[in-house]
Amino acid sequence: MIIRKAKKEDFKEIFELLLQLSTKNKKDKAAIKKSYEQSLKLKDSFDIVAIENKEVVGYASGGLCYALWARGYVFWIHELVTSKKHRRKGIAKKLILELEKIAKKRKAKQMFLATQKERKPAISLYSRMDYVPSKNYYLRKFF
Ligand SMILES: CC(C)(COP(=O)(O)OP(=O)(O)OC[C@H]1O[C@@H](n2cnc3c(N)ncnc32)[C@H](O)[C@@H]1OP(=O)(O)O)[C@@H](O)C(=O)NCCC(=O)NCCS
Repeated sequence: MIIRKAKKEDFKEIFELLLQLSTKNKKDKAAIKKSYEQSLKLKDSFDIVAIENKEVVGYASGGLCYALWARGYVFWIHELVTSKKHRRKGIAKKLILELEKIAKKRKAKQMFLATQKERKPAISLYSRMDYVPSKNYYLRKFF
């Protein structure tokens, strides 16, 4: 299994994985494709895939942002999903380690991510990799 930068032509397989993350993505294929292609062009945005036998079996993405309170860059993990057929083989762990490597190389001070209580495998993975819940509230507003 190899981990490499995602390419434009990986979208079809990545989209199938995104459907395993949430079927709500189904109706938004065109918008997600546009957003994915934009992400590939941004210098502070990172999209990576895990490949096994030429098949995309995992996808992760994240981005750097500068935060005064952190006195430097922080790295947000935005997406993480592995193929149902290939779970519990260490693929997600490798993807996170690769994002952490990118983050450290760019001098990020912290990794961040948001998840949901129901995502037990993800929570188990994150805590195994030393991610701890923040005491801060997580608030958002849509435009
Ligand atoms: C969460 C997810 C990415 C894990 O992918 P994975 O490739 O199976 O994870 P890994 O094989 O790298 O697991 C590494 C460790 O995480 C923990 N873990 C992963 N899946 C687990 C599960 N189902 N139950 C308990 N622990 C689990 C284990 O400690 C595991 O190590 P082990 O297999 O040696 O015990 C995958 O289940 C997935 O894509 N889920 C749906 C999408 C999702 O919820 N994404 C996260 C959004 S925030």
